[in-house]
Amino acid sequence: METVQNYISEHKDRFLEELLNLLRIPSVSADPAFAGDVRRTAEFVKASLESAGVDTAELHETAGHPIVYGEKLIDPNLPTVLVYGHYDVQPPDPLDLWDSPPFEPVIKKTAIHPDGAIFARGACDDKGQMYMHVKAFESMVASDQLLCNVKFLIEGEEEIGSDNLDVFCKANAEKLACDMVLLSDTSVIANDVPSITVGLRGLSYVEVEVTGPNRDLHSGVYGGAVANPINILCDMISSMKNENLEISIPGFYDDVVVVSETERQEMNEAPFSLESYKNDLEIDEIVGEKGYTTLERTSIRPTLEVNGMWGGYIGEGAKTVLPSKAYAKISMRLVPNQHPDTITDLFTKHFESIAPPGVKVKVTPHHGGHPAVTPTDTIEYKAAQMAMEKTYGKNPIPQRSGGSIPIVAMFEEVFGVKSVMLGFGLDSDDIHSPNEHYGLFNYFKGIETIPYFFFYYNKLKQS
Ligand code: BES
Ligand code: MN
Ligand code: MN
Repeated sequence: METVQNYISEHKDRFLEELLNLLRIPSVSADPAFAGDVRRTAEFVKASLESAGVDTAELHETAGHPIVYGEKLIDPNLPTVLVYGHYDVQPPDPLDLWDSPPFEPVIKKTAIHPDGAIFARGACDDKGQMYMHVKAFESMVASDQLLCNVKFLIEGEEEIGSDNLDVFCKANAEKLACDMVLLSDTSVIANDVPSITVGLRGLSYVEVEVTGPNRDLHSGVYGGAVANPINILCDMISSMKNENLEISIPGFYDDVVVVSETERQEMNEAPFSLESYKNDLEIDEIVGEKGYTTLERTSIRPTLEVNGMWGGYIGEGAKTVLPSKAYAKISMRLVPNQHPDTITDLFTKHFESIAPPGVKVKVTPHHGGHPAVTPTDTIEYKAAQMAMEKTYGKNPIPQRSGGSIPIVAMFEEVFGVKSVMLGFGLDSDDIHSPNEHYGLFNYFKGIETIPYFFFYYNKLKQS
């Protein structure tokens, strides 16, 4: 392992330069205007796998953006690790809130990242974290220390629901056969508090439309006499939570697994400062479901959040108008054993049932995803734990995350394999927000830790 680590320290500058080049390509999967850039990014990833030492790398066409696949199979008697990641990024909007252009990476020091952090869309989610695997792999191959067969599966549609990856995996189960999945697309608690993600929430995402009168009206001439769809939509949304901030959609909690007191106690032992949490967000109070801590509210409890809302006049100045339509995008984060389709159905029925006379409503489902929980009593988890212990000098804490990576549940369902979520970002890295960044410390710590994972996984598998 020493030769691998030496190789890494000798090539740090280049590893960074290459990531910066990857970050310069705007691979925004949600916006068709970027389709060409998304493809260029896929080609960049394919070429980087080739120069890192895979035997074969391929670009697979899908109904959407291409999937990059690469493999190096050294010995059928060795375990096979499927490395998953995504090269697509969230839209960078709102652009005016970025301190530097989102696709022109710059390195700046921050209080949390005194060694510097790379500011760019995708720096942490997930180009930076995905690329750590390419560079760790290169370092293992170059040092003749690759101890497992490796398959890379890097998609370009994670941020839009991974629908085509789902199709691809089901059609190519044999090609993708593996003993486990390894991914870095989550976070650690802090740079001095390593953790391993053992849970993800699921997702049900819907768009709603409320229609009042058949056209926009003069708000003086008609106001007060005709239902205003924006007012109505606000009422409907606020009625979906009670005074304890529990979700009042009938049946919503029916399938929620109740987490044991012991497990809750354990999870609340993780280091967490409410004061720094509030300071970081510049809020004077936190709000959430009664009876649960912040850590619980963002991991073992489901949510309902408005992600965006619009209608009427939102341009400069004032325009007196009673709008014909109001819209909102709403996400529900799900926990075991809630099913995304069931929740979408429950939401739709409920939303239709609470619509008052005077308006018509329409619910359009977007993507969904299943929640996932990974066990800690496996060789896979143990190897990750030992790897982090080695590079951080501390035993990592298992922690459930509030985010979603829908494909993780699919890997388990379709391939029957467990995933190890060995993330290195920080929750404060502003993924999906303006000024997303990724610490240089985190990038290199990831590259250094991954080879140890392979080392221990190989060792534990053989014994
Ligand atoms: N990497 C994130 C998920 C994540 C972030 C997990 C932080 C744990 C900690 C992923 O790219 C993501 O953003 N997923 C989406 C869901 C997807 C279906 C659009 C999400 O969680 O909103
Ligand atoms: Mn991600
Ligand atoms: Mn994301």
